Amino acid sequence: MDFTDQRLSYEKGVLDQNSVPASPFELFKTWMDEALAQKVKEPYAMSLATCGADNKPSVRIVLMREITETGIVFYTNYDSAKGRDIAENPNAEVLFFWNELERQVRISGSIAKIDASKSADYFHKRPHDSQLGAWISEPQSGEVANRAIMEDKFDQLKSDYPKDSVVPAPEFWGGYEITIESIEFWQGRANRVHDRIVYTQDDANSWTTKRLLP
Ligand SMILES: Cc1cc2nc3c(=O)[nH]c(=O)nc-3n(C[C@H](O)[C@H](O)[C@H](O)COP(=O)(O)O)c2cc1C
Repeated sequence: MDFTDQRLSYEKGVLDQNSVPASPFELFKTWMDEALAQKVKEPYAMSLATCGADNKPSVRIVLMREITETGIVFYTNYDSAKGRDIAENPNAEVLFFWNELERQVRISGSIAKIDASKSADYFHKRPHDSQLGAWISEPQSGEVANRAIMEDKFDQLKSDYPKDSVVPAPEFWGGYEITIESIEFWQGRANRVHDRIVYTQDDANSWTTKRLLP
């Protein structure tokens, strides 16, 4: 397949270094609100890139579940391939791409597990069957011989934990917070002369912005 004739001109917005807020969190939340208002499907879905001791990067989608004062939180299985990468190397990047707004946001930072009690609280807020699903996928990214094995396990869990019962929160499942160290906002512009503003943290309350060549 050849895509060399496929080209769009990006003309939906501008990003001006002189008018961006001092805190990147403010801009990130504004952009997220705009993505939600534009009905971008799951704008909180992000590509998470990790790299373990083998120096081979891997990337996958996870769902951001919270923007905190210091970073962003997602939930996963700690025994997964990504969990192993993170245990070996806490540095990671995430990427949001909102085609409808011609925007991307790129976040770089270090990852750490959140408190087990906070993970358990969120686990119990999830739909009952999703809670059971977390128990099926252990270890996540491990090989399974066929789908029937997973479905049998799910049926067994459904009978062990009927709808009104409490599903225990697994120790192998929970949240990670990525503490933001730098965050780049990209706004597509005509003729590939895009706007890129990157914030890097000086200290707890102060950020420096730079414009980057597109
Ligand atoms: C839209 C979408 C949302 C997803 N959300 C999550 C998530 O929040 N947590 C998660 O562990 N996996 C999520 N996944 C699955 C991951 O992309 C991935 O397949 C899984 O976590 C295993 O990754 P790993 O083998 O790199 O650990 C999602 C996939 C898609 C396509």
